[in-house]
Amino acid sequence: MPLSDSLPTTGDSLIDAFGRQIEYVRLSATDRCDFRCTYCMAEEMTFLPRQEVLSLEELERVARIFIQLGVKKLRITGGEPLIRRGVDRLFTGLCNLPGLQELAVTTNGSQLVDRAQHLRDSGVTSINISLDTLDPAKFKAITRTGELNTVLAGIRTAVSVGFDRIRLNAVILQGQNDDEIIALTEYALSLGINIAFIEEMPLGQVNAAGKPLEFVSSDDIYSCLADHFKLQAEPPPEQAGPARYWRIAGSETRIGLISPHSNNFCSSCNRLRVTAEGRLLLCLGNEHSISLRDHLRDGESDEMLADRIRQALNQKPERHVFDQPDEPQILRFMNASGG
Ligand code: 5AD
Ligand code: SF4
Repeated sequence: MPLSDSLPTTGDSLIDAFGRQIEYVRLSATDRCDFRCTYCMAEEMTFLPRQEVLSLEELERVARIFIQLGVKKLRITGGEPLIRRGVDRLFTGLCNLPGLQELAVTTNGSQLVDRAQHLRDSGVTSINISLDTLDPAKFKAITRTGELNTVLAGIRTAVSVGFDRIRLNAVILQGQNDDEIIALTEYALSLGINIAFIEEMPLGQVNAAGKPLEFVSSDDIYSCLADHFKLQAEPPPEQAGPARYWRIAGSETRIGLISPHSNNFCSSCNRLRVTAEGRLLLCLGNEHSISLRDHLRDGESDEMLADRIRQALNQKPERHVFDQPDEPQILRFMNASGG
């Protein structure tokens, strides 16, 4: 079923105190994951009890309310969204919501061999797949439980199915995979897909106990890339976002740099996140949030919930503070934040 071009049912829009219009919501379908990436999770994780996680019906309802408030793009994230039982039903339901223009998924790729075709058939337009290394041993070290070959096969399946856009996401860590920037880019180029390099963010307790941050700055990544490829700066995409893009000359492949430390992108932030337990997060780098789940389960109407969202938006902070000298420790893990 194709996504609708029709307008949302109300002429509403979500504009925050700093004039930023929210058109993009990331919904986490689960906090669980079959991987344990070192920068995302601790080795031993306690996940949410099932009753604390939004049901698929609740997720769809939240999505519908956001679309009525002018949201045009949804991204389903996790944890790993494709391991949530019944999640295909959610994709089908979301694609039928009038007003939604883009449905995206962020995945670790472990399920794509079996699931990519269904995602495409149910109307998913674009996917982001995490891939930090092409070396099987390093892949195991970074993800703790993942198998590189399964993910590479999943990526090939996704390419063959033909999404509008596929992007690899690589978190580059000093001394671990900073020697693979070119190889990963060549790999994306060989498949005709995009790749983004992300500076590691200090989320969760993974960075506790004085472990130094291992991020490699986007400037260093850019210098490395510019030595090997002819890069053409791309105009900012229609959907404002944190990535700055360059095209590899003569190719379809775009390279994105996402720089929470070195290039503050908050002024163009157009997004909100909803965690797996239904907490509306106003900013990834701050703790401001409200529990939509409590209001949903109190039997509030769509209109009341829409009002809650409008009011919460007033609390959306102007910027995150990862790049301040004493960065506050955000205690949420990435898997609990909705990617
Ligand atoms: N810093 C930066 N990126 C992260 N991701 C997960 N944890 C972190 C972190 N601490 C990335 C994953 C995935 C994307 C949604 O977020 O690699 O590709
Ligand atoms: Fe799972 Fe993604 Fe976190 Fe890795 S980064 S543990 S794949 S949610």
